[in-house]
Amino acid sequence: MGKLEGKVAFITGAARGQGRAHAVLMAREGADIAALDICHDLPYPRYPLAIRGDLEETASQVRAHGRQALELVADVRDSAAMADAVAKTIAAFGHIDILICNAGIADMALTWDITEEWWDIMLDVNLKGYWLAVKYVVPYMLAQGTGGSILMTSSVAGLRGEPGMAHYCASKWGVVGLAHSLAQELAPHHITVNTLHPTAVNTDIIPGMAQAAEMATEDLVEFIRHGNALPVKLIEAEDVANAGLWLVSEEARYVTGQKLTIDAGRMLK
Ligand SMILES: NC(=O)c1ccc[n+]([C@@H]2O[C@H](COP(=O)([O-])OP(=O)(O)OC[C@H]3O[C@@H](n4cnc5c(N)ncnc54)[C@H](O)[C@@H]3O)[C@@H](O)[C@H]2O)c1
Repeated sequence: MGKLEGKVAFITGAARGQGRAHAVLMAREGADIAALDICHDLPYPRYPLAIRGDLEETASQVRAHGRQALELVADVRDSAAMADAVAKTIAAFGHIDILICNAGIADMALTWDITEEWWDIMLDVNLKGYWLAVKYVVPYMLAQGTGGSILMTSSVAGLRGEPGMAHYCASKWGVVGLAHSLAQELAPHHITVNTLHPTAVNTDIIPGMAQAAEMATEDLVEFIRHGNALPVKLIEAEDVANAGLWLVSEEARYVTGQKLTIDAGRMLK
């Protein structure tokens, strides 16, 4: 029997990268998956976001584990679309036990060169988008009365400053404030709230950031490698998903308000 048998997980940014890794691993462990993604580009960041085919691929990998997948196309910044996506999930599955706030963007610029439009999009996707998912999912979790787990993907950039990424850091530190407040509000209801803090992960964000910084991807990866204590260039999305699985499983039922680093020792340096 899987660790998440009978559970339903609502995952944002699920079309590719870490969102897909969470979806597929949770499906392997017995969860049905509501997989949400924007599936089109935004004016910012300066790299392509997922496409519809990516979301279909996630759903197909979920179904390969014998679980149900609900594909939801929505922008996490859009309140009405998020309310609708959550309602569709309840209509399809009847409950939501796990929320993974993961949809995010990154880009690079010196703080004073960040435009107001870039700042607003960064904070809206990475922070407001997390809050909107919480806003619409939590009332169902409370009504169910069976507890639950919420995971929010922050970053090592949510634990320290990163030059060239002030807006990204501000959003990822903001996620910690959101999570720690929510963890206290939801603790009496047996709903845990934790944050994940990965070092650089081998997903489409990395070449995207290199492009924004006008660097070759290999040079950016080499720069990242020097920051990791363990000898690894980029960790894999599955490394983050494995840590996330523990936090949403019964094994971590009394773990809440924690910041779990999956950082190859980056924060040691
Ligand atoms: N890759 C890294 O190095 C790294 C490190 C630490 C933290 N993170 C964080 O991990 C999370 C997942 O990123 P990833 O590495 O899988 O990158 P990714 O670009 O592969 O995945 C992000 C997904 O979010 C989706 N998305 C973006 N904006 C959206 C919106 N407005 N509405 C709905 N969906 C939207 C994208 O289409 C994409 O599928 C992000 O929050 C990111 O900030 C990434």
